[in-house]
Parts: sequence; C-alpha cells; structure tokens
Amino acid sequence: MGPGPASRPGRPPLAAALCAALLMLLLLPPALGAGDRRRLACSTCRGIADRFNQGLADTAKKNFGGGNTAWEEKTLSKYESSEIRLVEIIENLCDSSNFECNNMVEEHEEHIEKWWFKLKKKYPDLFKWFCIETIEVCCPAGTYGPDCLACRGGSERPCHGNGHCDGDGTRGGDGSCSCNKEYTGDFCLDCSNGYFSTLRNETHSVC
Ligand SMILES: *[C@@H]1O[C@H](CO)[C@@H](O)[C@H](O)[C@H]1NC(C)=O
Repeated sequence: MGPGPASRPGRPPLAAALCAALLMLLLLPPALGAGDRRRLACSTCRGIADRFNQGLADTAKKNFGGGNTAWEEKTLSKYESSEIRLVEIIENLCDSSNFECNNMVEEHEEHIEKWWFKLKKKYPDLFKWFCIETIEVCCPAGTYGPDCLACRGGSERPCHGNGHCDGDGTRGGDGSCSCNKEYTGDFCLDCSNGYFSTLRNETHSVC
C-alpha cells in the first residue's frame, strides 16, 4: 500500500476568507469591552460621515470638461443627486483594510440610500442623522453613553470647561471628568496642589 492520498483538495479561497472573518468576529469581542466597542463604532461612523462629505466635495465640480452643452448641463444637474454619484461616494467611504468601516457601510447601506434619495434636503447633516439619530452609535456633543446623558457639569460646558468628559459624543464612557492639570475634583472646579483660585462660583472656576 502506498501512502494516503497525495494531495488533499485545496480549500477554496472564499471559504478560507469566511473562516478568517468568522475567527476575527469570535476573537474581537473579548479584546474590546462593550464601552470601547461603542466608542469605536462612533469613531468609525464619524469617519464614514467625514469621507462622505469629502466625496460630496470631490464630485461636486464634476463636469464634462468645460463648455457644456445644454444636454450636458441637463445631465449634470441629474448627476447631482443621482445613484451614480452616490455609488462613487460610497466606493470611497472606507479603506479596504478597515473591517469595522466596511462592515458598518454594508450593514447600513439602505439607510444611506434612503437619506441620499429622500432625506438629505431635510436633514443635511449626515453625521447627525446617520450616526446619532438613526444607527445610534454617537451622541450629541457634551453627552455620553447608551442614552446620551449630559456630561458632568452639563452638556454645554462638560467638566466646566476644565477637563474632558469620558465618552463625550459617543454611546460609551461614564461621563466622568478627567481634569486638566490645574484642576481636580469630580467636577474640575477645585484647584490642584500648587495652583490657586483666581475665580470661583457655582459654574466657573479659574486656577
Ligand atoms: C460665574 O463666573 C462667570 C465668569 O466670570 C460668569 O460668566 C458667570 O455669570 C458666573 N455665574 C454666576 C452664577 O455667578
């Protein structure tokens, strides 16, 4: 008897890629806590909205090379809100290596299309409409966490303007303050050792 089969059938590349993707999905959650994943989701979404706006700018001046005929002008104005333009913009939303980004665009492409064709006149701010209000991965500035609660010190001036609110603008974090070095305390109203107060009332403090 000779040795066993000389060669096993090779694994099809698609199956290998799917296995790799599945493995990544299985490995990803333990590596990042829920709060970190929420922060990442928001920054991914912010990146998508930024790239979308960049794509809008990049395709805005598209024309047929000057001296457009009437027919071309008509075509151009159609292009402005066309599916072709949308597809061009969507193609450039994510770097191919950015798994989170590609995943988010794929998962929510229908929302983006709906916005493009029906809602962008009424809700011109894609970040706000998409990331905050529709897929709910970000919060308005000065708020944090799953329910977008106000940061310590209030959403107008988180941490009384003397520090950073944990999770500010994302669905993660706990709203606590990391104070600038001159300040301390839960609300960043107290002066650190070696710093002295020059102004202090209920809402403002200068050290
Ligand atoms: C606290 O001080 C700030 C800065 O001088 C001032 O603008 C604000 O009106 C003051 N607030 C109160 C409640 O006195």
